[in-house]
Amino acid sequence: MDGDGTADGSLTKRPRRLRGDGIRSLVSETQLSPQDLVAPVFVDATTDERKPIESMPGHDRVPVDEAVARVEEIRETGVEAVILFGIPERKDELGSQAWAEDGVVQEATRRITEETNTYVITDVCLCEYTEHGHCGVLDSEADTGGHLTVANDETLELLGKTARSHAEAGADMVAPSGMMDGMVGAIRSALDSSGDEHVPIMSYAAKYESAFYGPFRDAADGAPAFGDRRHYQMDPANTREANREVTLDVEEGADILMVKPALPYLDIVAEVRREFPHPVAAYNVSGEYAMLHAADEKGWLDLAEVAHESLLSIKRAGADLIITYFAEDVAPRL
Ligand code: PBG
Repeated sequence: MDGDGTADGSLTKRPRRLRGDGIRSLVSETQLSPQDLVAPVFVDATTDERKPIESMPGHDRVPVDEAVARVEEIRETGVEAVILFGIPERKDELGSQAWAEDGVVQEATRRITEETNTYVITDVCLCEYTEHGHCGVLDSEADTGGHLTVANDETLELLGKTARSHAEAGADMVAPSGMMDGMVGAIRSALDSSGDEHVPIMSYAAKYESAFYGPFRDAADGAPAFGDRRHYQMDPANTREANREVTLDVEEGADILMVKPALPYLDIVAEVRREFPHPVAAYNVSGEYAMLHAADEKGWLDLAEVAHESLLSIKRAGADLIITYFAEDVAPRL
């Protein structure tokens, strides 16, 4: 036996030396901070009291009158940015409440930016505003084997109007999530033509057609009335396509590149980090939140631990910022 405790002295490389209590934090490669996190907030024009979202424990739909109070709760935990989703008073064929000056997101944005220092990002999409629940105008003529689908180019104009109305209400950043071709370019020129050239675009650049969005569709009342979103969101099987999608968004002027969902797509987060110099965002989506809660309720996992580990992994994969329903729970413990 030698000094290393091995019979022949061969064990000289011992990674465990750097895992002691005093040294672990000095060699830690990834730091998670409340300032990396963005908290989603659902503002609901159809209610005057908070309505718990059953599949997302701890999250409510809040009336416009409570938007500021809700955001203040989030800020107390150290989180400084929110992303707003709206449930409009009424839905129609085109989703016209999405760009209404007195729409639910516009009104909440106005109040939050006037009364707090919060950085307000708005989700720009039509699915919560159309009665059919798709992310744009329907095209009954399209040749998709008899299916109705979303008319891309007609939708672009409406997305431009929506983004502009958010910016006019005071939104600090807009985040288009509809996966229409050309949406970043259309929104960029709509913003630039109304003097909102300073408002950045965080593009849902690689957004997959994922079953992990289930709870969100309850939360935001945005489930498609028929069919699914596979004609516009990305096929979960594809990696090279993500690179192509992200490249197009960069060419069209995206400022921040988002990958969504996060945990099942960490390879894509890492790839976007490697290939592009832009900030990378990852959306830790509703299903990723709901499943950890469900396992915790059963006593199978420790929620606080798995939530923290999830967010740390997303950062380690290369995300600069994380949109997550865990923001408020994790931030105070960092
Ligand atoms: C709107 C939108 C969705 C999500 C964010 N923006 C739903 C969808 O595309 O079906 C999902 C967020 C989540 O699951 O947490 N297009």
